[in-house]
Amino acid sequence: MIKKGIILAGGTGTRMSPLTKAVNKQLLPLYDKPIIFYPLSILMLAGIKNILIIVNRGQLNQFRKILPEKNNLGIKIEYKEQFKPSGLPQAFTIGEKFIGNDNVALILGDNFFYGQSLTKILRKNINFKKGSKIFLHPVRSPQNYGVAQLVNNKVSKLIEKPKKTKSNLAVTGLYFFDNRVIEYSKKLKFSKRGELEIIDLLNIYRKKKILSAELIGRGGAWLDTGSVEDYYNASNFISTIENRQGFKIACIEEIALKNNWINKADVKKAIQFYGNCNYSKYLKSLIY
Ligand code: G1P
Repeated sequence: MIKKGIILAGGTGTRMSPLTKAVNKQLLPLYDKPIIFYPLSILMLAGIKNILIIVNRGQLNQFRKILPEKNNLGIKIEYKEQFKPSGLPQAFTIGEKFIGNDNVALILGDNFFYGQSLTKILRKNINFKKGSKIFLHPVRSPQNYGVAQLVNNKVSKLIEKPKKTKSNLAVTGLYFFDNRVIEYSKKLKFSKRGELEIIDLLNIYRKKKILSAELIGRGGAWLDTGSVEDYYNASNFISTIENRQGFKIACIEEIALKNNWINKADVKKAIQFYGNCNYSKYLKSLIY
């Protein structure tokens, strides 16, 4: 069972500079919400209530303004600072105390997932006990990501940003790990690009035959918010769906309400917190 989740919201966001020079990328708007709402909503949809957000040094107060530890979401949010970003597996050493003896999910702060099958996939896998679980999604340019090759539905190879690959299955930025992830992360060596690599960590699990993969098929969406162009495409996607359906994607209070973690009074508090805006109007429509 996974009860704890880490959102890695550090990084320098260089590819989005100058937008990210003064503001952490995860706090920029993705259509009508800060980017961080989207990965947070995924952890909440998975049923995870204990959340650690790892941020860059000096950016804690920016995050606390929008996601305070004392929130109206019925979840526990903690923060830790990352002093020198040096790769995704650092999340597990920074988060060692938070993780304690439990299993843990990691989601990258700029990852966007969408699709009806998603909650089902998350809930199905949340009970896992041993090993590691990755979530794959077909993409046209796998060379930009970690890539998985499958043989008989088993991961036979994992490569970080291969120049050439026969597989179109990207390793998305959502990972489930058992508690040994702390120990294995400490063993990792820096790669040629000077980082600790999540793919190296996953390969430890793969070699021990305790890595499994779940496919988020073409009915789901995993969008990139890495470059300015991808970022605006993702924003347009959200705007299109929300304006057509009248539902919001990643409304964190709505998810908390549906999970029975909060009640109407909490939603009222959230409305006060956000003030007079469309997001609050939507929250009102949920309780009146
Ligand atoms: C990182 C991982 C990569 C993964 C990607 C998902 O890449 O190293 O394996 O596919 O996140 O967003 P990065 O964003 O650091 O280039």
